[in-house]
Amino acid sequence: MRDHYARNITYLRLSVTDRCSLRCRYCMPAEGISLRGHGEICGLEELVEIARASVECGVRKVRLTGGEPLVRRGILDVCRGISAIPGVEELCLTTNGVALPQLAAPLREAGVDRLNISLDTLQPSRYAYMTRVGRLEDVFRGLEAAAAAGFTGTKLNMVLMKAFNEDEIPDFVNLARRYPLEVRFIELMPIGEGQNAPFLPAQAVLDACPDLRPIEASGVARRYRPPGGRGTVGLIEPMSHRFCGSCDRIRVTADGKLKPCLHSDQEIPLRGLHGEALRQALQGGIAAKPERHHMNETGRSQAGRNMHQIGG
Ligand code: GTP
Ligand code: 5AD
Ligand code: SF4
Repeated sequence: MRDHYARNITYLRLSVTDRCSLRCRYCMPAEGISLRGHGEICGLEELVEIARASVECGVRKVRLTGGEPLVRRGILDVCRGISAIPGVEELCLTTNGVALPQLAAPLREAGVDRLNISLDTLQPSRYAYMTRVGRLEDVFRGLEAAAAAGFTGTKLNMVLMKAFNEDEIPDFVNLARRYPLEVRFIELMPIGEGQNAPFLPAQAVLDACPDLRPIEASGVARRYRPPGGRGTVGLIEPMSHRFCGSCDRIRVTADGKLKPCLHSDQEIPLRGLHGEALRQALQGGIAAKPERHHMNETGRSQAGRNMHQIGG
C-alpha cells in the first residue's frame, strides 16, 4: 500500500532478536546492554503472523535482521514459515556471517533467497578490535559456506569509518573485481553508539577508485562496476544523499513494535493483535510514515534505540 507521500511500501525488515554474537563498537556498548527478556520478544509464530499480515498489506520482500538473526533459537522455523507465505517474492537475511559455516545450507533449505553479510575490515587484528570478540576467519568461512550452499547475489556491507578502514577501500573494491559479490560501502549513521564513531562520506570511495563506472541504482544503493570485475560496488549514503523520497520499507523490532521510519521514535505496538486488528495497525503505521529523517539538521537520529534493537 502507499503511504501519505505516495511511496509504495513493499519491504518489511523484521528483527528477530536484539542479541548479537559480536559487540561492534559503533553498534553495541561494551557492557550495560539492556537486552529484552525472552517473554518480551515475539515468539516464532508471532513473527510469521506479522510477516503474513504485512504481505496482506502489500509487502513483497521480507528481510530478517537482528541484532544477529542467526543467534535466535528457531530461526530456521521462522524462515520456513515466512518463505511459505504466498506473496513473499524474496526472503533475505542480514548477518555478521560468523554462524554461516553451520547455518548457510540449512538456511537455503528453509527458503532464504539471499544474504547480506556485514564486514568492516579485511585485517584480522582490526576485526578483533572493532567487534571486540570476533575472528575474521569465521566470516571468510561463512562467505565460502554461503557460496557452497548455492547463495547468489550476496552483498557485503562495509561501514565506512575515517582512519579505521578508510585505507582498505581499494582492498574492498578489489573483492568486487575478483568475486561475483556486491560490495557496499555504508555511511555511518549517528544512532546510539554510532554517534561516537568517526564519519567518512562515501565520496571517499569514488576518490580512491576513480575507475568505477556508474550503473543502475538498486534500493538505497547507488551502484558502480569496476571495469573487468565480476562483481559490483554499492554506495549507501543516508547522510550525503537522501534516499527517503524513494523509501519502500517498514520495520518491526524484536519486541513487536512497528517502526515506520528507522530514524523516528514513532512506534506502534503490534503484540497481541491478530487478523483485522493487526492489519489495521500496520496500515495505520504505513499511512503515517514520516517523510524523511532529520539527521543532517540535528546531527543525530531520533530513533530512540540502539541499532542492534532495530536491525538497521
Ligand atoms: P538489499 O535488499 O540487498 O538491497 O539490502 P538492504 O540494503 O535493504 O539491507 P541491509 O540490511 O544490507 O542494509 C544495509 C545498510 O543500509 C544498513 O546499514 C542499514 O542500516 C542501512 N539501511 C537500510 N535501510 C535503510 C533506510 O531505510 N534508511 C537508512 N537511513 N538506512 C538504511
Ligand atoms: N550506521 C550505519 N550502519 C550501521 N550498522 C550498524 N550500525 C550502523 C550505523 N550506526 C550496519 C551494520 C550492518 C547493518 C545491518 O547495519 O554494519 O551491516
Ligand atoms: Fe552485531 Fe551487527 Fe551490531 Fe556488529 S553491527 S554488534 S554484528 S548487530
